Amino acid sequence: MSQHGTIKVTSSHRTTTASIPARTSAAGFLAPGSPDPASTGSPDPASRSAQIESELRRAPRSFRILTGDRPTGPLHLGHYFGTLQNRVRFQQLGADVLVLVADYQVITDRDAGPGLGADVLGLVADNLAAGLDPARATIFAHSQVSALNQLMLPFLSLLSVAEVGRNPTVKEEFSASGGGAMSALLFAYPVHQAADILACRANLVPVGKDQLPHVELTRTIARRFNQRYSPRCGFFQPPDPLLGAVPLLLGLDGQKMSKSRGNTIPLSATEDETARLIKGARTDRQRHISYEPAGRPEVANLVLMAAMCQRRPPAAVAAEIGSGGAARLKAVVTEAVNEHLRPIRARRRELAADRPYLQAVLRRGNDRAAVLAGDTLNSVRELMRMTY
Ligand code: TRP
Repeated sequence: MSQHGTIKVTSSHRTTTASIPARTSAAGFLAPGSPDPASTGSPDPASRSAQIESELRRAPRSFRILTGDRPTGPLHLGHYFGTLQNRVRFQQLGADVLVLVADYQVITDRDAGPGLGADVLGLVADNLAAGLDPARATIFAHSQVSALNQLMLPFLSLLSVAEVGRNPTVKEEFSASGGGAMSALLFAYPVHQAADILACRANLVPVGKDQLPHVELTRTIARRFNQRYSPRCGFFQPPDPLLGAVPLLLGLDGQKMSKSRGNTIPLSATEDETARLIKGARTDRQRHISYEPAGRPEVANLVLMAAMCQRRPPAAVAAEIGSGGAARLKAVVTEAVNEHLRPIRARRRELAADRPYLQAVLRRGNDRAAVLAGDTLNSVRELMRMTY
């Protein structure tokens, strides 16, 4: 069992090997409020992320990074700046980059429909078009990696229902469902996500703020597994979350950008579609264009969009438009977005036309993930004395 490189930044949050009281009675070992000797609060994620960024530049090869998306439709500009570009940057630095097509996560809240296959290969195309190199990065789908899914069973045994229920996303979904209609898979999905991460022995998980509790739960699972089954060697390294440093783009209506709200610019959109989408974006009544994220969020967001595409400070973009008003602003944004995405879109079109190639890339990624997850599962079975 080969442990992937470790992050030598601080050791304050690392797994301890302190002796753990033996589990003498089955009842109550997960009782709410029972102290978890291993949960030594994590360091502030923002400052830790800055430390990790510098460590990434110093020793990129000691990082195995897992990120993922649900295949529920084509990726958009927010994904591009928020995650895709970062994946490519990690790859260029020399880290081991794994990208998960989280197909089992789709069925947490809907049926697997006839379009799922196209969405899965669409994600592969989005990632490759953005610059991921299939010879270096590993793109895989979790339904194709059985050992990964099997790890969910021992992991579920390490958490109480109450603990999983305290996960903010699970909690929200539970109340949105009226407290009953939520699928049991949606309830358990943060545990499945922990299996994704730990199966690959990833030590770094780039996330948005909303996903931090999932990584925290993964760390809890890693520590508990270590306490119970591997107190001497600390088999699982609790992974670190990495918060993005890139400012968040809002949707064209000024709300959170999301596929389901229809306020995005899909990477796969044509230039004309992009122009039409941006034309419909919300602005305000002031003619003079300025960059004031707090006071004028919609206008600031459009300015930011152009600025990110042109790699310029947003204030410079706003100053140039000045009294040109919303029409000029939208023309500038359209031009900037289309210009920036042109080569990516051209690559994406080529890739999308070559289904066998996308399938081959995915198959190769699945194979590598299966080796990693298989090794992990074998070690886990040994540590749990489930070898007969
Ligand atoms: N939950 C993530 C999302 O909806 C996708 C995901 C699944 C993921 N498993 C993961 C991300 C593991 C990082 C690591 O975007």
